[in-house]
Amino acid sequence: MFTLDQVVPWGRSFDEYRRMFALTGEDLALNILGCGDGPASFNAEATRRGLRVTSCDPIYRWDAAQIRERIAVTRTEVLEQTRQNAAEFVWTAIGSVEELERIRMTAMNEFLNDFPAGKIDGRYIEAELPRLPFADRSFDLALSSHLLFLYTTQLGEDFHRAAVREMCRVANEVRIFPLLTLGGGRSPFVEDVADWLGDSAFEVSIDDVPYEFRRGGNQMMRMRRTVSDG
Ligand SMILES: C[S@@+](CC[C@H](N)C(=O)[O-])C[C@H]1O[C@@H](n2cnc3c(N)ncnc32)[C@H](O)[C@@H]1O
Repeated sequence: MFTLDQVVPWGRSFDEYRRMFALTGEDLALNILGCGDGPASFNAEATRRGLRVTSCDPIYRWDAAQIRERIAVTRTEVLEQTRQNAAEFVWTAIGSVEELERIRMTAMNEFLNDFPAGKIDGRYIEAELPRLPFADRSFDLALSSHLLFLYTTQLGEDFHRAAVREMCRVANEVRIFPLLTLGGGRSPFVEDVADWLGDSAFEVSIDDVPYEFRRGGNQMMRMRRTVSDG
């Protein structure tokens, strides 16, 4: 079973974000926050397209050379785990572990090239769920890819509850992908999110998306603010 002891820096591309979160042209025109974007190239590529994306992650306290070193360690571990557990993945859009490595390293190099300028611009902000340094409703849409639910065991229930509430505080809509844990089953926390949000003004849904790499991981959770209280 694919497993990691702790959350690792490993980054996906803009096209993968677009499909993981079923982002439409209208969605991409919004003011977007990526929580735990790490070394993904979503921000770099979005910025090149003239879009507004802010990313936050604790690894942004390091410089590009230090992040590159962490990626090198993660690369060995993740690719080896993927090779050993290949049956847990769908090898259609990405055909092999070698192709996976190429796609991921291209995305992460794009991030690394953009990071120094993006940090100065305030597009990469050192911050850590469950407390974000943003005012209420600073963003139209907040995204979490490969952090919440995926690290169910490592991060635990209290963290998840606080993190989901915090993302809903700073944005009008929140999307989380995938709903699976690292081992591949659906996170038990998925069913609890509506309770965690209580009768706050959020509608929770689970939507199919046009992306599946982890087998069975083709759904995201959406939390939409339904009531505007001014
Ligand atoms: C597996 S990577 C995913 C990166 C990116 N979202 C993607 O899908 O390509 C997980 C990221 O979550 C970040 N992370 C870990 N703990 C976090 C926290 N408490 N708040 C925000 N990000 C966190 C890690 O530093 C890492 O960059």
